[in-house]
Amino acid sequence: MSVVWAERLAGRLAGMKASEIRELLKVIERPEIISFAGGIPDPALFPHAELAAAYQRVMASNSLRSVALQYSVSEGWLPLREFICEQQNRGGLGATPDNVVVTSGSQQGLEFLGKLFIGPGDLVAVTRPTYLGALQAFAPYEPRYLSVPVDEEGVLPDALEAAFRQGPKFFYLVPDFQNPNGITTSLARRRAVIGLAQRYGVPVIEDAAYTELRYDGEHLPSLIALDADLSGPGEGFRPSHVIYAGTFSKTVAPALRVGWLTGPAEVIHKLVLMKQAGDLHSSTINQIVLTDVVRDIWPELTARLRASYRLRRDAMLAALERWFPPGTRWTHPAGGLFVWLELPESVDGTRLLERAISEVNVAFVPGAAFHADRSGANTCRLSFSMVGPDVIDEGIRRLSTLLPR
Ligand SMILES: Cc1ncc(COP(=O)(O)O)c(C=O)c1O
Repeated sequence: MSVVWAERLAGRLAGMKASEIRELLKVIERPEIISFAGGIPDPALFPHAELAAAYQRVMASNSLRSVALQYSVSEGWLPLREFICEQQNRGGLGATPDNVVVTSGSQQGLEFLGKLFIGPGDLVAVTRPTYLGALQAFAPYEPRYLSVPVDEEGVLPDALEAAFRQGPKFFYLVPDFQNPNGITTSLARRRAVIGLAQRYGVPVIEDAAYTELRYDGEHLPSLIALDADLSGPGEGFRPSHVIYAGTFSKTVAPALRVGWLTGPAEVIHKLVLMKQAGDLHSSTINQIVLTDVVRDIWPELTARLRASYRLRRDAMLAALERWFPPGTRWTHPAGGLFVWLELPESVDGTRLLERAISEVNVAFVPGAAFHADRSGANTCRLSFSMVGPDVIDEGIRRLSTLLPR
């Protein structure tokens, strides 16, 4: 008797589907396509010489190589967790390595948090729009979403309070230059989010994937630092409402698969058990090499990235100004990799993508997939990270020819 695989699947898989957009975007490898779809870092900016030297150094040392190629602890390489604590403690957290677990990219951290907190039918609050990968990470745990609207300053406090009154398991957000819409949560809104988290006892998951990539203005305190601040004086690790998800994917290289979660030790302890059950630990050699590189060149590396992406962000905003018709709105991100378009209500982003690919050889990601409530049909995400400034202008010009005037 043959196996009917579809009948064997666990019920929780019902919510997991391949996206039709992925099919459409298979063409972006074609050289004639100008792609604003990716949202991935530019490989020309990877610190390849420094990485090569660090791998060589590790492999040349008998003692280091034995450790680097061996199994290691689920918490993560201690010197890396120390580096992470040093960076985060500038915000006054008082974190020790017990507050940090290294994960295989922050994506794995999000998946673990879904597993840790969400039972079937539990409420989870997210911004509208939100990071698609977070929705995918949470999906197998069968949440119901409360989609909280945002404006240019971030999430709307009244709407967030209404959501918190319904008792969600947590609130997930990307406060800096959010994927997909490039919005940054203002300082006042950050305080409001933490104030509400403290009042209602709702955990906040702060996804800081793009925080280092700021092109204008002052760095804003992280939510986890504000939580420490607003908790009043005290010793040790003070924030108790926020779990912070960080990553080296956008600053060093995504293929190393090194991210982390920072939070209260009792939560980190549970996450370490999940890490153990999931994949034992993240690659030891990658963690060691990464620690060497970030210890050596962190300020120069991040400055180089900012200088390069800033030019592309500027080129995209100038091109939109130049070519796009009235009735189209877009965000002005202070950092990150994305500009978000709001088209006239009559324009459907997915239909526009089909036409953009077949008629003008341009690709982007339609915005509906980033909405837990499936709204946002007239929105699109454009990434400027992989395209040079001249080509950005040409791509935006071509796209503009498809818009109603
Ligand atoms: C907002 C956000 N969070 C998390 C991730 C996951 O990144 P990684 O798993 O490479 O750390 C991404 C990747 O694009 C992202 O945009």
